[in-house]
Amino acid sequence: MRKFILGIIVTLLVLVLGALAFLSFGLMPTNADAVPSSLERRIAMSAMDSSMDRHAPQISNPIPPTDDNLIQGMKIYTMNCAVCHGTLDNKPSLLEKSLYPPPPQLILAPLHDPEWHIFYAVRTGVRYTGMPSWSKALSEEDIWKVTAFLSHIEKLSPGVQDYWKKAYGVSPPPAAGGRDHMK
Ligand code: HEC
Repeated sequence: MRKFILGIIVTLLVLVLGALAFLSFGLMPTNADAVPSSLERRIAMSAMDSSMDRHAPQISNPIPPTDDNLIQGMKIYTMNCAVCHGTLDNKPSLLEKSLYPPPPQLILAPLHDPEWHIFYAVRTGVRYTGMPSWSKALSEEDIWKVTAFLSHIEKLSPGVQDYWKKAYGVSPPPAAGGRDHMK
């Protein structure tokens, strides 16, 4: 029994020292101009979704999705998010291939997550990625407005679609089958 426990301790020590050596010999890549493997993406995405499911309060959006609120959400998106998540002229963002992991293109592939999930992602950000936490930069109300906009992209009223067309020169993209919640 004693030998068995000693064996476990030695194995753990070797693993920890191995990890430290990996880091201190500079073997851990830091470049962001690479594409994550599909295995890494799959593991990271499902870990993120599970963590948000566990931590995010399942509250409903207190801001009603009126035309006025959705247009305000669109403006907040354009000013703060489009640089990474894609502009409203339906083009991928300039930084689409410059971040590791790459930012999802939320206009071209709208999210199908519940609003509480989107709100939590925007408010708290995503650690170790380029996704900032917006709680210190935007008011709760503005975060709910941009959340409402993101979750209504595929079902905007004719009035909001007209606004989009006038402001950005193109119609909103046709429902293109966005990314579904992993679970
Ligand atoms: C500097 C770049 C950057 C900016 C600016 C930015 N984001 Fe992000 N965002 C990211 C990245 C990168 C991810 C992907 C994180 C990951 O892979 O886990 C992300 C993820 C997200 C997600 C989660 C998507 C999912 O798949 O569940 C949402 C929602 C989101 N961003 C909304 C926003 C909103 C709204 C704004 C503006 C208020 C914004 N982001 C601004 C880089 C950015």
